Amino acid sequence: MSKVLIVGKNGNLGRELVSLYPEATAWGRTELDVADESAVLNKITELKPDIVFNCTAYNDVDGAEQNPAPANQINAKGPETLAKVCDQISATLVHFSTGQVFAGDSKDGYTETDTPQPINAYGQSKLTGEQAVANFCQKYYIIRTEWLYAKPSTSGTSKKSFIDIMLKMAKAGKPIKAVDDEFGKPTYARDLAIMSKELVEQNLVYGIYHGINEGLASRYDWAKETFRIKNIEADLTPVPASTFPPRAAKRPQYEVLNNTKFPKLRSWQDALKDYLTNN
Ligand SMILES: NC(=O)c1ccc[n+]([C@@H]2O[C@H](COP(=O)([O-])OP(=O)(O)OC[C@H]3O[C@@H](n4cnc5c(N)ncnc54)[C@H](OP(=O)(O)O)[C@@H]3O)[C@@H](O)[C@H]2O)c1
Repeated sequence: MSKVLIVGKNGNLGRELVSLYPEATAWGRTELDVADESAVLNKITELKPDIVFNCTAYNDVDGAEQNPAPANQINAKGPETLAKVCDQISATLVHFSTGQVFAGDSKDGYTETDTPQPINAYGQSKLTGEQAVANFCQKYYIIRTEWLYAKPSTSGTSKKSFIDIMLKMAKAGKPIKAVDDEFGKPTYARDLAIMSKELVEQNLVYGIYHGINEGLASRYDWAKETFRIKNIEADLTPVPASTFPPRAAKRPQYEVLNNTKFPKLRSWQDALKDYLTNN
């Protein structure tokens, strides 16, 4: 049986992978700081896993624009070190990236082979991480995803789920404005974790994959469907993104990944219903 290591065990995706691999070694930031090059090299060489899932990330898109250093450390340098050590011990590295490596100006979205062109520092840090993984490790899967959600994390730094924010606002009876002119594919972290496990177990060809639930949505569509499934009467209004004050980082208007290499995952509406009724 393969020896599996999950790094970033407390994040949205990390927790789902840990539940799929109960026998795996799983490390959070306190067990392994991916920015600490010698710790990564020493601890992983000593463990000698066959497969490493890297679920660590710096996901604060506006924070990265103001100060790119931590994003570069965790999203670019960390994966580079992981790629080097995985290559040395002949392990397979499964690394995750984002739709924000693309410019986001194509309504039709992007396939695995389209040329990345990030428009913000976060996207650039993730692209540099992708390139390091591909350059330094022979056995790798890079899985890009977007608009990820999972059960609320116990980790203070983990990215907050849009769904939880919407539910909290509705519960407080607050009027909610949700953007209806930016688009993406809401993706359940459990579905992404299952896809990642299948990729590895089926020994599919190494390279870049897109892991997303199917179908396009705006944040408004996503919030509306959440309230419909939960039977909540919310005061929800669609608004253009320009309604809100400008953010530090530009966002792609169409963060739309197309999966052309792996059997398609279920629709975002079916995944959302599963998540909301079973959590
Ligand atoms: N969330 C999204 O909407 C989204 C969208 C597109 C792509 N992605 C990608 O999908 C993957 C998974 O994202 P996610 O939402 O699961 O992320 P997440 O919930 O924010 O979790 C990231 C984890 O990384 C860990 N981490 C941060 N810095 C670290 C360091 N220096 N050393 C070790 N661990 C560190 C954090 O650990 P602690 O908990 O210990 O602080 C946290 O648990 C990432 O590659 C991300 O870029 C996510």
